[in-house]
Amino acid sequence: MKIPFNQIYTTGREIYYINNCIKSQGGQGKFYTKKVQDFICGKFKASKVLLTTSCTAALEMAALLVNLGPEDEVIMPSFTFTSTANAVMLRGAKPVFADIDGLTLNISPEDVEKKITSKTKAVIPVHYAGIACDMDKLLYIAKENGLFLIEDAAQAVNALYKDRYLGTIGHIGCYSFHATKNYTCGEGGAILLNNIDPKMIKRAEYLWEKGTNRQAFLAGMVDKYTWVDVGSSYTPADLLAAYLYAQMEELDIIYDFRRKVYERYYESLLEYEKKGLIRLPFIPSYAVSNYHIFYLLFTSEEHRNFVKEGLNKVGIEAVIHYMPLHLSPMGRRLGYKEGDLPVTEKAASTILRLPLYPDLTEEKQEYILKNLSRLLNALE
Ligand SMILES: Cc1ncc(COP(=O)(O)O)c(C=O)c1O
Repeated sequence: MKIPFNQIYTTGREIYYINNCIKSQGGQGKFYTKKVQDFICGKFKASKVLLTTSCTAALEMAALLVNLGPEDEVIMPSFTFTSTANAVMLRGAKPVFADIDGLTLNISPEDVEKKITSKTKAVIPVHYAGIACDMDKLLYIAKENGLFLIEDAAQAVNALYKDRYLGTIGHIGCYSFHATKNYTCGEGGAILLNNIDPKMIKRAEYLWEKGTNRQAFLAGMVDKYTWVDVGSSYTPADLLAAYLYAQMEELDIIYDFRRKVYERYYESLLEYEKKGLIRLPFIPSYAVSNYHIFYLLFTSEEHRNFVKEGLNKVGIEAVIHYMPLHLSPMGRRLGYKEGDLPVTEKAASTILRLPLYPDLTEEKQEYILKNLSRLLNALE
C-alpha cells in the first residue's frame, strides 16, 4: 500500500464555481474574492480581510504595514517556516528567535519577554499545528511594550483561542490556503486586519493593489485610480477564490473528517504515550484545534528515525519538519548556533508527522497504526 503524506480534498463544487467565474467575467473580476472575504469576516469575526496569493504574501504585507525597517527587531519562533522570517528580512529588519514551549511547541511567552530590547517592534507567534499560542500572555506582553502582534495563522484557519478564531486576535493575522493546508486553493492566503488604526486598513488596500487606490475607484469614490503608496501584486486571481469558496462552504465537513482521523490516531496511540515511548500532541484547555497536524515526539532522534524509516519502507509517507531556522545556513549567518534554543532543537530532532487528511480511509489508517505498533513495540 502507498499512503502519501498529504492528499488534497475536493468538495466537487470547485469546478462549478471556477466555470462560473470564467463564464461570467473571464476570471477578471473580484466576485468570488469578495464572497470568500465576506465569508471569513462573518464566520471568524474578522474586521477586514483581503485574500492574498499566499500566506507568505500576507506576512510580507504585514511587515510593510507596520513599517519595519533596518533598525527594527521582530521576535518569532525558530520552529516555523522560512516565510515568517523572510517577511522581516525583506524589510531589512532582524528576526530574533525565541524558544518554544515543550508541551505545545508554540512560542514561549516567557522567552519572548526575555528577548525584548529597545529595538523590538513586533512579535509573530505561529499557531503550530492549528493549536493556539497562549494569546492572553502574548497580548499582555505586546500591550505592555507597545509591540505589534502579528499572528502567523498559516496552519490555524478555523481554530480557536477561547472563543476567538485564530488570526483575529492580534493586530494582524495571516492565513494560508496552500495545498498542504486544511482548506486550499493550491496556493493562496489572506491577511486579516483586526485591531488597528483604520488608516492602516486603507493602506493595506493600497499595498494589496500595487500601491494604487484602485479599491476606492471600484467603489466609485474617485474617478480614476493612481499611484498612492508602495505596494505589490498580492491579490489572487478570482479563479482561485472560486476554488476556495467551495472549500469554505464545506468548512465544518472538512473539520469533522480531520477530527475523526486525529482522534483515531490519538486513542490508538495513547498506550504508547503511557509507556513513555512517545508523546502525543497536547491541546491546552484554552484551545480548539483544527486538527491540522498529527505528530509524535520520540525520546531520541534515533528512535524517531527508526520509526520514520520503518514506515517509509512499507509505503507510508511519514515526514519531519521544521529544520529550526536558527540552525539553517541563514540562521547561522545571523549569529545563532547549536544550543541557543534547546526546546526547539529537541522537538525538531524527535518529531514525526503522520498522514492526516479527509480521504484517509479507516483501512489506510489501520495499516498505518498496525505498522506503527510493530515499530513502537520494537523500541521497548
Ligand atoms: C507557519 C507557516 N507560515 C507561513 C507559511 C507560508 O504559507 P504559504 O505557503 O501560503 O505562503 C507556512 C507554510 O507552510 C507555514 O507553515
